[in-house]
Amino acid sequence: MNEVVKTILKRRSTRSFTPDQLTEEELSVLLETARFAPSGMNRQPWHFTVVQNPETLHRINEACRQVLLGSGVKAMEDRAKGNDFSICYKAPTLILVAVDEQVHTGRYDGAVALENMFLAAESMGLGSCWIHAVSLIFNGGANEALRKELQIPAGYAPIGSGAFGRKAAEAQAAPRKENTITILK
Ligand SMILES: Cc1cc2nc3c(=O)[nH]c(=O)nc-3n(C[C@H](O)[C@H](O)[C@H](O)COP(=O)(O)O)c2cc1C
Repeated sequence: MNEVVKTILKRRSTRSFTPDQLTEEELSVLLETARFAPSGMNRQPWHFTVVQNPETLHRINEACRQVLLGSGVKAMEDRAKGNDFSICYKAPTLILVAVDEQVHTGRYDGAVALENMFLAAESMGLGSCWIHAVSLIFNGGANEALRKELQIPAGYAPIGSGAFGRKAAEAQAAPRKENTITILK
């Protein structure tokens, strides 16, 4: 098995991070792998906002708390009520991906860019996790000031975000479904 395949199979969603920040070199490699992701007609309709500032991370966390509290899902509401609530599991870096709303492949393009960063993170011994709620905090024009602070370009919609940092613990492999493949020969 080659190293790329090993990395893909070894990557897990990390939900426990140490406070240690990524190095500038690590961050720059992650972003470069995102920029080199495939995109429909090579439009590269993405924008990446890297958040490492603790106050901004706190504002994002509180906005996500509101989303979870209004989700109608008891487990999410209970999680959001906790004093220690951290939507990104206290990861020191959050990368928000927003895509041009006019580009019909934008959502897929943004997702593969995120996955490139997750795999690159694993290959560098870092942890990562897709954090969905961050892409919901601007729905209906909410949190406009925060949107400005994150410098999301006009006409771009957040589609997802990734938490990145050093793993505080190794995650267990989540079970995989059987019978999801059809091979026609
Ligand atoms: C679109 C998408 C949204 C996700 N949102 C979250 C999330 O908000 N919080 C979280 O902890 N994990 C999130 N995950 C991670 C999944 O829960 C995880 O990938 C899945 O359970 C399989 O585990 P693994 O990544 O360790 O293989 C998300 C994954 C995807 C692809």
